Amino acid sequence: MTEKICKMTIFEAYGDIKSQLKEAQIEDYVFEAKQIIKYVTGYTNKEILLNYTESLTDFQKDCMEAVLKERLKRYPLQYILGFWDFYGRRYKVGPGVLIPRQDTEIVAETCIDLIKDIKNPKVLDLCAGTGCIGITLAAEKQDSLVTLAEKYPEPIAFLEENIKQNAPENAKLLKGDVFEKIGSDEKYDLIVSNPPYVKSDEIAKLQPEVRFEPVSALDGGADGLDFYRFIAKEYKNSLKPGGRLVFEIGFDGADAVKNILERSGYKNITVKKDYYENERVIFGTVD
Ligand SMILES: C[S@@+](CC[C@H](N)C(=O)[O-])C[C@H]1O[C@@H](n2cnc3c(N)ncnc32)[C@H](O)[C@@H]1O
Repeated sequence: MTEKICKMTIFEAYGDIKSQLKEAQIEDYVFEAKQIIKYVTGYTNKEILLNYTESLTDFQKDCMEAVLKERLKRYPLQYILGFWDFYGRRYKVGPGVLIPRQDTEIVAETCIDLIKDIKNPKVLDLCAGTGCIGITLAAEKQDSLVTLAEKYPEPIAFLEENIKQNAPENAKLLKGDVFEKIGSDEKYDLIVSNPPYVKSDEIAKLQPEVRFEPVSALDGGADGLDFYRFIAKEYKNSLKPGGRLVFEIGFDGADAVKNILERSGYKNITVKKDYYENERVIFGTVD
């Protein structure tokens, strides 16, 4: 059976999606419109350019309208599509798990650089969520062994799938609570964490999309620093001599987290900026 063709071309659909997203004040409306077109047509960027005068099928148009309807309610595009890309790999995402952010790629990149010359490095990713940081390390540094620790069942379901998909050989899941020192009985070359770091009373003020994400992935306590304080102190003995503790930080978190690392006795504390010039990564070394 041939598919019914509607009158709207890919180019017209792209324009229509863009203007509706813009009207709904969605910041990245151009980028998102392109993602929706790619999803609906199954085309790559290049194929879209080659075929932009092609008409959508009725099915594609219905699909586009269904995606748009949800997105205009400010439901995150990543949850609607069910996947998102991070550092060149595809991750399953959905309600209950934090969506991987592009800003976090610099955290993964920093860790890759720190372990690149270590043979068979052992890594612990605390508060792993989708697993985007730890899985990237395992996939990029194939002689590493990466343990990804996560407490909550919803993210754990995505994490299991993402490990299977992207780094089944050398990434492993560890279920448990950071505040019970999960995984701390081993020694690591590097411990990394992008912990919840939003101040509790700021959660209600976040963008509408972020409020669809789990509070347990965001809430870092009254001053946003609960996880940093605990991990810096309680996981220090889990690092080998010369081992690194790496944190993602919020745009205004560098001074406070630097202070925590200094007080916990870490040396050579370094802060790195992300691609938008915000301080995004901090790391220190143990003697
Ligand atoms: C900010 S998200 C980071 C997720 C992922 N690492 C990333 O960069 O996208 C924090 C994660 O910590 C998890 N989490 C919160 N409290 C935890 C705890 N006490 N122990 C372990 N994981 C926890 C949340 O479920 C969430 O997946």
